Amino acid sequence: MSGGAITPSRGAAHARILGVGGYRPRRVVPNSEIVDLIDSSDEWIRTRSGIESRRWAAADETVQMMSVAAARKAIAAAGLEPTQIDCVIVSTVSHMLQTPSVATLIADELGTDHPAAFDISAACAGFCHGISMASDFIRGGSARHVLVIGVERLSDMTDMHDRGTAFIFADGAGAAVVGPSDEPAIGPVVWGSAGEQADLIRQDVDWLTWNDAEEHPEGHEQPYLTMNGNPVFRWASYTMAKVAQEALDVAGVAAGELDVFVPHQANMRIIDAMAKAMKLPESVRIARDIATMGNTSAASIPLALERMIEEGQARSGDKALFIAFGAGLVYAAQVVLVP
Ligand SMILES: CC(C)(COP(=O)(O)OP(=O)(O)OC[C@H]1O[C@@H](n2cnc3c(N)ncnc32)[C@H](O)[C@@H]1OP(=O)(O)O)[C@@H](O)C(=O)NCCC(=O)NCCS
Repeated sequence: MSGGAITPSRGAAHARILGVGGYRPRRVVPNSEIVDLIDSSDEWIRTRSGIESRRWAAADETVQMMSVAAARKAIAAAGLEPTQIDCVIVSTVSHMLQTPSVATLIADELGTDHPAAFDISAACAGFCHGISMASDFIRGGSARHVLVIGVERLSDMTDMHDRGTAFIFADGAGAAVVGPSDEPAIGPVVWGSAGEQADLIRQDVDWLTWNDAEEHPEGHEQPYLTMNGNPVFRWASYTMAKVAQEALDVAGVAAGELDVFVPHQANMRIIDAMAKAMKLPESVRIARDIATMGNTSAASIPLALERMIEEGQARSGDKALFIAFGAGLVYAAQVVLVP
């Protein structure tokens, strides 16, 4: 054994989000296109979920294509070149090829210079997981500029006759570039899981069982996403408000100091319930992208933030609170400065 200690990795003092970008599929799908399939009404969907329309991807709007489009915007907003990205994290549950990871394909199409690239599976909370990992990689010295992408084509996994899911889930991509910072701009993450509730949102059967089955339920062409909405609604409205409050506390930010609240766009009523439980003052601007985007899972927070920046509701340096939750059940929340 030779002497001398292993050189430790050294990172930046702090990390921040440098730019965000999104991709919204071209096709707008109003509630009227869905109601007959699920014996529902435009009014029921609006009052129960706040959704007026959503976007569903066309054949050419693949997970990879949407991700690359969102990433190009985020990299440009950060003022960087693709070759400066040294790590790509993609959160998705709807990339239909199990291997290789879509992150490697996205990194290649973007023209990056052989960055670390991998996918994570943290459902609707995946973007917030990615932001936390990116911040730690940069501060730990494993990377300097991390591209975090949340992307879904949930329309590929949804039974369009299922009353519990067909009106909620949608498609899109959102991306952020995280890099070094002189001041703290990404607060400590509060995250966790509640695997005892894993059955509340899940793919109904695994592919091996599906392939081995002699016959399938009538009308089922593939495994689908299922959701027991009511318990998820109650869990999200109450437990998640506490997690959001904890993220404020560990960041040392009072609710009254917050400028922007960007929760996962799961249901407008959950967004309102969380804001009420946290006693957010009227001055805090709240993301409500769900009205025209539906629930795009891992893509929902970056898409909602991008819109708020474009519309002037979120300004550079504003304090924003992210919180996301989803299948697992999993959750993650953090306070960040708007790029
Ligand atoms: C899905 C969701 C909107 C349903 O709303 P809800 O108030 O819980 O609805 P319920 O399932 O209790 O059903 C209430 C009634 O509406 C009916 N209903 C259910 N789905 C319906 C639909 N799509 N259209 C019309 N009526 C419907 C039910 O049959 C029930 O009727 P009843 O009162 O006569 O028995 C809501 O539970 C939800 O948003 N859950 C959380 C979803 C979420 O956040 N998921 C993402 C996590 S990533």
